Amino acid sequence: MSNLAEQFRQLSTLLHRTRGDWQHTPFACRELPWPELAPALMALNEAQLDTLDEDDTAALAFFAPLRPETVASHAYRLPELDRADDYATPRWSNGIPGRKWAQIKDFAANITAEHAILEWCAGKGHLGRLLAQQGAPSVTSLEWNADLCRQGAEVAEQFKLDHHFVCADALSADAARLFRPEQQALALHACGELHLRFLRHAAAAGTRRLALSPCCYHLIDGDHYRPLSAAGRQQDLHLDRQSLRLPLQQQVTGGERVRRLRHIELTWRLAFDELQQHLTGTTRYLPLPSFPKQLLSGDFADFAHWACEQKSLPVPNSIDGEHWLQRAEQRRLLVKRIELVRHRYRYLLELWLLLDRALFLEEQGYRVNLGTFTAESNTPRRYLLQASRN
Ligand SMILES: C[S@@+](CC[C@H](N)C(=O)[O-])C[C@H]1O[C@@H](n2cnc3c(N)ncnc32)[C@H](O)[C@@H]1O
Repeated sequence: MSNLAEQFRQLSTLLHRTRGDWQHTPFACRELPWPELAPALMALNEAQLDTLDEDDTAALAFFAPLRPETVASHAYRLPELDRADDYATPRWSNGIPGRKWAQIKDFAANITAEHAILEWCAGKGHLGRLLAQQGAPSVTSLEWNADLCRQGAEVAEQFKLDHHFVCADALSADAARLFRPEQQALALHACGELHLRFLRHAAAAGTRRLALSPCCYHLIDGDHYRPLSAAGRQQDLHLDRQSLRLPLQQQVTGGERVRRLRHIELTWRLAFDELQQHLTGTTRYLPLPSFPKQLLSGDFADFAHWACEQKSLPVPNSIDGEHWLQRAEQRRLLVKRIELVRHRYRYLLELWLLLDRALFLEEQGYRVNLGTFTAESNTPRRYLLQASRN
């Protein structure tokens, strides 16, 4: 059994055993699901909950006596891979935000540009362009947004680079034909189904080298994740979309404004839920989709109007905002206490998903390497899966 397979086995056992900790929908809970944790969690006020949740090390220390196995599993850290020597910006990088540029440079630092490159879900092809400039034999960037392709192609033309765009849907059957054996296929921050296809197509074509940094694990076909590897299928956690979202709740701390907006959003969502339960006479939680943050700059009554329309509920003539916001207060604290526990599984669930992908590639005859390619301050989506075959 490979080292990764052994890690996966241990992690699967833990995640099966602790399912009751991470699989709850906090918004749907009316009481703490773990009576044994109540004394410790109820002793924390809101400010303490917020501070602890933002500091993973402190939160793990808090949970060490309560959930020793979960905390011990965090000892398995992925190695740091190569990083760029510098982040100096070339002329064409104008307009790429600093953190994005650092991610691209760091990703590129892990690529030896000796084969033709296929860049999957490329955006404007910044990564492909950098590699073309560093001497990659040829670069093909797949992207479905025609405007991004046009902009990328213009820069390639301007610098006379061997860098071409294929403007097509990565989920179409034709996209599989872009993969070749003598090739290096790259995907930087390709969402769920897009990177699952990337791995399947590359393995089927016998593509010599792969490098993938996955994101948005929940954006998949179907309601549940179907593990890629045989090991994953044997130890299937039956992850639904809400569990698949958990690793993405790892935020780079966004400062006071972001914190304030998060607070308002949480309170308003819960206040609307109180209102809708009253209107429908049910006690069932009704989730709202994500929405533009400017909706939070009006008042709660306007937000509740919008939410009623979203959910095809009759809009009440008048909405007593104070009343519903007041009712949300206690639920907000409950949600934060439950999240404090769930968030301690973000890393472990992401690791499980990464290892499933890694084991799939091992099963397909690849040598696999897994680590972090960039600093956490650049992005929480900083895992890189590298694979090669002879
Ligand atoms: C998160 S961005 C990553 C872009 C680039 N790799 C980077 O890191 O800067 C994902 C890209 O995938 C593209 N995309 C989404 N769905 C796609 C599809 N079905 N086919 C091709 N491209 C797609 C989006 O337009 C977007 O440019």
